[in-house]
Amino acid sequence: MNLRGKDFLTLLDFTSEEINELLTLADELKRKKKAGIPHRLCEGKNIALIFEKTSTRTRCAFEVAASDLGMGSTYLGPSGTQIGIKESIADTARVLAGMYDAIEYRGFGQEIVNELAKFSSVPVINGLTNEYHPTQVLADLMTIREHFGTLKNIKLVYLGDARYNMGNSLLVGCAKMGVNFTACAPEGYMPGQELIDKCRGFAKESGAVLEFESDPKKALKDADVVYTDIWVSMGEPEEEWAKRIPLMRPYQVNSELMSWAKKDAVFMHCLPSYHDMKTGIGNTVAEKYGLPDGIEVTDEVFESEASIVFQEAENRMHTIKAVIASVL
Ligand code: CP
Ligand code: NVA
Repeated sequence: MNLRGKDFLTLLDFTSEEINELLTLADELKRKKKAGIPHRLCEGKNIALIFEKTSTRTRCAFEVAASDLGMGSTYLGPSGTQIGIKESIADTARVLAGMYDAIEYRGFGQEIVNELAKFSSVPVINGLTNEYHPTQVLADLMTIREHFGTLKNIKLVYLGDARYNMGNSLLVGCAKMGVNFTACAPEGYMPGQELIDKCRGFAKESGAVLEFESDPKKALKDADVVYTDIWVSMGEPEEEWAKRIPLMRPYQVNSELMSWAKKDAVFMHCLPSYHDMKTGIGNTVAEKYGLPDGIEVTDEVFESEASIVFQEAENRMHTIKAVIASVL
């Protein structure tokens, strides 16, 4: 595999073999990290981390990964830079490419990260856009493989807002890697037809079964992985909650929904999650709309034995490390 110099913008641009090798490298880097074996594969290099939206996992994953690889990193947060206000993305790309060996970008439209990559002479890694979250799905695939020992014949059901970054990226990742994928969402919240058609092509090769089903009980039949994400994403207007809650309520992952999946099914979530009343938004929304047990997932499921969300979160770091080491 030679991914040197390649941008990591969506999993659409990678073959299943390449994704598999990234996962295998992530496994190896995780083993080394746990064993205390140094793996400073990118000694002396530097990465710029642009975050136009907030982050805990992705930022920390990039910073720790860079440090473990022997690299320097600079965090450019949602405020305090010239990006977008006094300087275009094209100019920013050329400035940063002169100083850094790679650039991570988290922000709004996919076209922005594409533009950054177009004008940057160093690899650009997508740390989340409205449309895609490819480093998250790499961590998800790693976690599924760790748990079940394989990706084949695993059925993942994604419930909630399936037309946004997580729904789209899971569809692509599963279709490429042969994971059976069911999007379970209300009307108007399924991935776009163009993306579905593309993924049907990948699924033909990988053997993945792709389904789009709005009834959670039907969707969850034989599910190994029950996956959800918040119902209103970063950057979406707050007013969306009023519209989304009644639409999404039947898709809340609670004990009843979990009982429709396989007995040994696991629960996954990219996080952050509104599973309790301990967050600002979670509390306000839960109170306002009468969801005291959690919003997209109940606290009971989130804290249950089936939940592997923190293993999944840790794997963000190992997979991001594999991506950085591979593109440099
Ligand atoms: N899952 C994820 O991307 O988390 P952050 O928003 O905290 O980076
Ligand atoms: N859909 C969520 C994912 C967060 C990791 C968002 O964009 O806010």
